[in-house]
Amino acid sequence: MGLGIAQVAAFSGNEVCLFDSFTPLLSEVKGKIEKSLQVLVSKGKLEQNKVSEVLSRITLSESLAEFSACELVIEAIIEKREAKAFVFHHLYAIVSPTCIVASNTSSLSISSLASFSKNPERFIGIHFFNPAPVMKLVEIIPAVQTSEHTIAETQKIITAWGKIPVLAKDTPGFIVNRVARPFYGEALRIYDEGIADFATIDWAMKTFGGFPMGPFELMDFIGNDINYTVTESIFQSFFCDPRYMPSFTQKRLMEAGYLGKKSGRGYYSYQNKAIKPEPNEDHELGKTIFKRILVMLINEAAEALHYGIASSTDIDMAMTKGVNYPKGLLKWADELGILEVVNHLDELFETYHDSRYRCSVLLRKMTHKDLSFY
Ligand SMILES: NC(=O)c1ccc[n+]([C@@H]2O[C@H](COP(=O)([O-])OP(=O)(O)OC[C@H]3O[C@@H](n4cnc5c(N)ncnc54)[C@H](O)[C@@H]3O)[C@@H](O)[C@H]2O)c1
Repeated sequence: MGLGIAQVAAFSGNEVCLFDSFTPLLSEVKGKIEKSLQVLVSKGKLEQNKVSEVLSRITLSESLAEFSACELVIEAIIEKREAKAFVFHHLYAIVSPTCIVASNTSSLSISSLASFSKNPERFIGIHFFNPAPVMKLVEIIPAVQTSEHTIAETQKIITAWGKIPVLAKDTPGFIVNRVARPFYGEALRIYDEGIADFATIDWAMKTFGGFPMGPFELMDFIGNDINYTVTESIFQSFFCDPRYMPSFTQKRLMEAGYLGKKSGRGYYSYQNKAIKPEPNEDHELGKTIFKRILVMLINEAAEALHYGIASSTDIDMAMTKGVNYPKGLLKWADELGILEVVNHLDELFETYHDSRYRCSVLLRKMTHKDLSFY
């Protein structure tokens, strides 16, 4: 991620210092960024003579001491709180008091990372999506300690880098990783109950929802290890709320090393000559699967709105620009009809008697109002 973020900043005309504790990696950095820039050249988005200009703005630093003149430092090291604390401890002895220090963490609390800072009001979460040069969305997550000035400055920088910033409250999963959970979790639940197989659930979400990939295809693409870890971390961080409960199916696949595309096998096989299973193209079944997953996604988006995690505009923007959903979930709720969503959730709750299916109070209150007015 650090490499992609460095490319974004240098592409927008900034001088960038890049540091990685695993020094052999640094020798490969320029080659990797050049390859990525050449893709832009081949698409006519960058002139050939600008490639060396962008590369010349990136300095490979041998130590953090070279960060003393930086106005913004974005930490993107391994996802371990102690490792990040160690880096911040060294960094604060080096950077100026006016420097904004940010973390690209996907799962750690920004307020807890800010507590390591000498200037916590200048600490903030800046969460890019992978690959950073391609994905437009950036979640900006102020810590409890962050000043309004730091938020405004960060939004200005990220906008100047050609990205779309959305503001998220410092809660587990921020916007995208939280609101997207039912796309995976409810699909796994439907499979675990024996209602449909992977191929049929994927077919249903693509055919009736217009999603670019089905949940199992996407989990195989992301990696079952990464996707499972995010789910488990969100489940634990939400004090074991059943809405986020992980699936044994995914856990066992991860334990077996069936990680998805990268290991050659996940929900599907990616070996040479592997034949993709055919879905059961029963339209009634497909619509039922799609609607169950969709109402769970809408419920999650409504809960995020209800608890002030982000504005309705930013929640819809996050899901369309961060994970390429065909429509914002709150807009989708309006189109489907809030009452229809509430009734469907209530039916699920009546069937399962599981608080996983409890309907957001916001949706219930709004059964005759338009969500986008909130
Ligand atoms: N991979 C993603 O899709 C993604 C998306 C958004 C955010 N993130 C977040 O970005 C961060 C990095 O993720 P990644 O997938 O790029 O991880 P990665 O493991 O690919 O890269 C981490 C890099 O940090 C380096 N590193 C480790 N300890 C270090 C230290 N003490 N000082 C300097 N460098 C150190 C490693 O050598 C490695 O090159 C994590 O916080 C992750 O949650 C990842």
